[in-house]
Amino acid sequence: MDKPLNQLIDWLNADAPYRELFQRAFHGNATSERIGQSLAAYQRTIVSNRTPFDLYLDGNRDALSSSAQNGMRLFFGRARCSVCHQGSRLTDNRFHNIGTADPALPEDTGRRAVTQKDSDHGRFRTPQLREIGRTAPYMHNGKFKTLQQVVEHYNFGGVTDEANDHRDEQLEVLYLSEDEVTDLVTFLSAGLTSQTASPEEGTSSFNARPQAPAACGSRLSTGKPAPAGGR
Ligand code: HEC
Repeated sequence: MDKPLNQLIDWLNADAPYRELFQRAFHGNATSERIGQSLAAYQRTIVSNRTPFDLYLDGNRDALSSSAQNGMRLFFGRARCSVCHQGSRLTDNRFHNIGTADPALPEDTGRRAVTQKDSDHGRFRTPQLREIGRTAPYMHNGKFKTLQQVVEHYNFGGVTDEANDHRDEQLEVLYLSEDEVTDLVTFLSAGLTSQTASPEEGTSSFNARPQAPAACGSRLSTGKPAPAGGR
C-alpha cells in the first residue's frame, strides 16, 4: 500500500478481490474518498479499553504481575518512557528523533519531508502504545522485530548511528539491568495488551468481518459499530 494515492486507486481497481469488496461495500470502484471511508470504518473497530493496566488503574491490584508492576514503575519513572508516551493513549502526539531513521536511505527523513527544516530530520510522531503486544514489528520502518529490541535501543540511549545530529535531548543511557529490561517488556506486552480478544480479531484479515472486542464504550472510540457498507 506504500504508493502515491492515484497509483493505489488503479492498483485496487485492477485487483479482482479488492474490486469485489469495493462493489459490495460501495456499489462502485475504489476512489480516494472510499479508501478513506474504508480505513476510517476499519479504525473504528479497533477498541482498546480493558488492558490489564486499565484494570489495575481501576483498582484491581492483581491485574498486573509483580514483574509488570515493576515495569510500569520504570516506564513512568527511571526509564523515562512517559516523557513522550503519556496520557491514556501513551503519546504526546509530538515529533521526536529517537535514532530510528535509516541513514542508508536518503528519503527516510521523517518530519523534515513535510517542514523542510533541518532540525526536523529523523523526527517521527510518538505512536500510541495500546495493544502494542499485537503490532510487531516496531517503529515507522519496522526496524525492531521484538519489544525486547525496542527496550534495548532505549537502554543504550537510542544511539544507533553516530551521524545522527538531531537525537532528542530527552534520551539518555538508562543503565537498566537485564531483569529491569524484562520487567519493562512484560509491562508493554502483558500490561498494555488486552487479554479479551484473540490476536486475529481487529486485524486486517481480509475475509473476516470487522469485529469490535466485546467491551466497547471506550476512551478511544464511541464503540459504535462500523457502518456495514454503503455510505
Ligand atoms: C523522546 C521521546 C520518546 C521517549 C523518551 C520514548 N519514546 Fe518510544 N517512541 C518515540 C517515537 C518518536 C517513536 C516512533 C519512532 C519511529 O516510528 O521511528 C517511538 C516508538 C516506540 C515504540 C514502537 C511503537 C510502534 O507501534 O512501532 C515502542 C514500543 C516504544 N516507543 C516504547 C518506549 C519505551 C518502553 C520507552 C522508555 C524506555 C520509550 N518508548 C521512550 C518517542 C519516545
